[in-house]
Amino acid sequence: MSPLKKNFPHARILAIESSCDETAAAVLENGRVLLSSVVASQIDLHQQYGGVFPEVASRQHVRTIHAVVEQTLQQAHMNLENIDAIAVTRGPGLAGSLVVGVNMAKGMAMGSRLPLIGVNHLEGHIYSAWLYPSETPVPPPAPQFPLLALLVSGGHTELNLMRDHLQYERLGSTLDDAAGEAFDKVARLIGLPYPGGPSVQNAAAYGSKEAFHFPRAWMEGSSDFSFSGLKTSVLRTVRDLESQGKPLPVNDLAAGFQDAVVEVLFKKTMLAARKYNVKNIVVAGGVSANQALREAFLNQSEFTVFIPPLKYCTDNAAMIAAAGYYRFVHDKVDTLEFDVLPNWPLS
Ligand SMILES: Nc1ncnc2c1ncn2[C@@H]1O[C@H](COP(=O)(O)OP(=O)(O)OP(=O)(O)O)[C@@H](O)[C@H]1O
Ligand SMILES: [Mg+2]
Repeated sequence: MSPLKKNFPHARILAIESSCDETAAAVLENGRVLLSSVVASQIDLHQQYGGVFPEVASRQHVRTIHAVVEQTLQQAHMNLENIDAIAVTRGPGLAGSLVVGVNMAKGMAMGSRLPLIGVNHLEGHIYSAWLYPSETPVPPPAPQFPLLALLVSGGHTELNLMRDHLQYERLGSTLDDAAGEAFDKVARLIGLPYPGGPSVQNAAAYGSKEAFHFPRAWMEGSSDFSFSGLKTSVLRTVRDLESQGKPLPVNDLAAGFQDAVVEVLFKKTMLAARKYNVKNIVVAGGVSANQALREAFLNQSEFTVFIPPLKYCTDNAAMIAAAGYYRFVHDKVDTLEFDVLPNWPLS
C-alpha cells in the first residue's frame, strides 16, 4: 500500500528548511497540528556583515542541521518510524544553503525509504497561515478559498490569488526592492542594526509618523509594488539633515518610512481582495511580523484575515511541513534526483 493511501489524511511530515540563514526542522500532523519546531538562527553570525554572508550561512547549516533535526524529533517524541514523508525547501534561496537541507532530507528519505517532497519556500510562508500548536484546545478555522495571499518577506513581495490548494495566480509583485529588503536597507541608512525590520519597528514606536511624509508608489490599477522611490526619498532626507549638521531624528524617520510601507501594502491588498471577491486574506512572510501591518489588517472588518503567530512569520520549517503535507496528499511527491532551485518562482 502506498504511504499516501495508508496515512491520508493523518500524515505526519518531518520538514527541513535551510534556504537562507535559519537552520530549521519541524514535525507536523494533518497539515496543521504542529508537534515540534526548532529554529537555529544565525543572526549573530551575520550581524557583523550587515546582511547574510552566503558562505558563512551554508557552513553554519552543515554544522547545525543534524542537531536541529534530532532535537525536533525528540521534542515530538518520535523517530522516523512515526513519520510518513519528509519535506524540504527546494528553493528559492541561497544555493549553498539549500543544498545542505536537501542533501540531509535525501539522506534521511533514502535511509528510511520515506517519500521526499521538495517545497517552494514562498509557498511555505503562505501555508504558515494553516498552522496551530498541538496544545491548542479548539482547532482554529483554516483559510478558505478563493483567498488572496500577500507575501511580504526579505526577498519577495507579491500578491497571489489562490483558488484552491497549491494554485497560485500572481496578481502583482515588487518591481524593485522587496518590502523586507526596504526595511533592511532603510535601517542601515538611518543607523539601525540588522535585521532592519524589527529595528525599524522598535524605533518607529518612539517616533511620529507625521514628522516626515515619504512618497507612496500607488501605480493605480496595478497590483505591483515599488519601494525604491521611498528608499531614495529617505536617503535624500538623511543627506539633507546631515549636510545641515543636524542629528538624525531616527525614530521619526523610522515611523514615517514604516507608515508608507504599511499603507501601500494594506490598501493595495484590500483593493485586490475586493476586485477578486475573495473569502479570506492571508498575510505571510517576515514582514507580516510587523505590528503596524498586522494592526492595519486586523482593524478592518471587511475580510477575515489570517496572519501567522509571530514566530512563524520569519523562516521556519513548520511552514514547509504544512505546504509539504498538501503536496503529499495531492500526490506531488518527488524523486531523489531533484536539484535545488535558487530562483524558483511560485507561479
Ligand atoms: N517586525 C518586522 N517589521 C518589518 N519587517 C520585518 C519584521 N520582522 C522581520 N522583518 C523582515 O523580514 C525579513 C525576513 O523575512 P523572511 O525570513 O521571510 O525573509 P527571507 O527568508 O530572507 O526572504 P524570502 O522568504 O523572500 O526568501 C527581513 O527583511 C526582516 O527585516
Ligand atoms: Mg523566508
